[in-house]
Amino acid sequence: MNFRNKDWRNSMRLTVDYNYMMKKFIGDGGFKDSELSEMKEMAADAFDYVADNRGKAMMGWTELPYNQKEIVEDIIATAKDVRRKYKYFVVLGIGGSALGPIAVFNALCHLHYNDLAPSKRKGPKFYVEDNVDPERMAALLDVIEPEKTCFNVITKSGATSETMTQYLVINDILTKALGEKASEHIIATTDEKKGNLIKLAKQYNYKTFYIPDGVGGRFSELCPVGLLPAAVLGLDIKAMLAGAAYMDGVCNKPSIARNPALACAVLQYMAMKRGKNVGVMMPYADSLKLMADWYCQLWAESLGKNVTLDGKPCNVGQTPVKSLGVTDQHSQVQLYTEGPFDKVVTFLSVGKYRKEVMIPHGCEDIPDVCFLGGHTMNELIAAENKATAYALAKAGRQNYTIWLPEVNEFTLGELMYLFELQTAYTGAMFNIDTFNQPGVEAGKQATYALLGKPGYEAKKKELDDAPAAEEKYRV
Ligand code: PA5
Repeated sequence: MNFRNKDWRNSMRLTVDYNYMMKKFIGDGGFKDSELSEMKEMAADAFDYVADNRGKAMMGWTELPYNQKEIVEDIIATAKDVRRKYKYFVVLGIGGSALGPIAVFNALCHLHYNDLAPSKRKGPKFYVEDNVDPERMAALLDVIEPEKTCFNVITKSGATSETMTQYLVINDILTKALGEKASEHIIATTDEKKGNLIKLAKQYNYKTFYIPDGVGGRFSELCPVGLLPAAVLGLDIKAMLAGAAYMDGVCNKPSIARNPALACAVLQYMAMKRGKNVGVMMPYADSLKLMADWYCQLWAESLGKNVTLDGKPCNVGQTPVKSLGVTDQHSQVQLYTEGPFDKVVTFLSVGKYRKEVMIPHGCEDIPDVCFLGGHTMNELIAAENKATAYALAKAGRQNYTIWLPEVNEFTLGELMYLFELQTAYTGAMFNIDTFNQPGVEAGKQATYALLGKPGYEAKKKELDDAPAAEEKYRV
């Protein structure tokens, strides 16, 4: 990948096509040019807010493409070692500590990676365990050999019950099997100063990577949270960071017409203000299917807030829904086309897929089938993408397309950085704290109380004193 070459970089630029958000194309449900112009000032203010706060407080993520040179070298060397020594690599984490690694794995590795013969994979078999379903943990243990496995425990807070539970289970198995050597099988990715994992890492001398200050879970894919798993898979993490830096440069203008992340933010903000409370993320590529999951967390957890920065009540946010083209054309698209006018659909479209599959000629006496012969599956998926966008527009449904020339490390870095900026701009327009998650913390605290964590006695009492469930509401 030639990401150091300027022409190549420009050939990989993501673009946003929002024709089908506009009245001219979809009728009254669309925006007028004048309405977009009226947003200029608010857009410029959001741009300034993000520019002024870059690298500060919880906006440390903006600098990740630039400030990790040494860490990246350490990650690459560690990953090389992991690939040499281990047959399996397992990420233990949840939320922002898992969704990025899963999305990047799915986007950039073979779609049946773990089923490939070792000679056809660049790294060990790869699993991300982001739940505490006991059946899933048991299933993992059925398919890996712990003594041939490297476990990457990822938790910024070092307190998350799910991740620390997984750690306890795995550490117990490793210690019983390997004694003191167990610690060689664990890599910790966590906060440098706070939390339990850093204490354990020091006590047991785990190889450790730090999640920098100012980088919250859902904004952490471009730090060691995502870079180490990606490097273990043999992916080019320097190209990912270069893609993010490139998008940062592209978005360095306070104008909707020239900054794609700002354009997406404004379009979504305007749509939300007009009652479009559902945001559908619909990639037309299996490789990007789980990128939609990562986006859904980023968008939901960042924008779903009930108070503005100056303390005024608000209940803002948009419910993100993941959908897959073409698969969901045969299920959800019916709703998107004819159901309530409460959605904006974002398509992720790919210019060049990594493979081409020819559709052979055949069934010559069946015109409804034989017309497919001689085309490629690539042409078919592109046509279906175009047709769905058009059909939605024809039905007056707003949609826009983020176009990726290819899916590779560089364009993925661009895409993730674009979504992060879009989220930060939108949060600034709503004047909310984009980077906190009190709703998620509330659930974490109730769990601690239910399981008897010291310090949560009052919470436990609150739960015990809550009205008991009534039989009449059970069927
Ligand atoms: O975005 C977030 O902050 C959350 O989704 C966290 O990533 C998630 O709750 C896991 O937290 P931690 O990394 O502290 O275990």
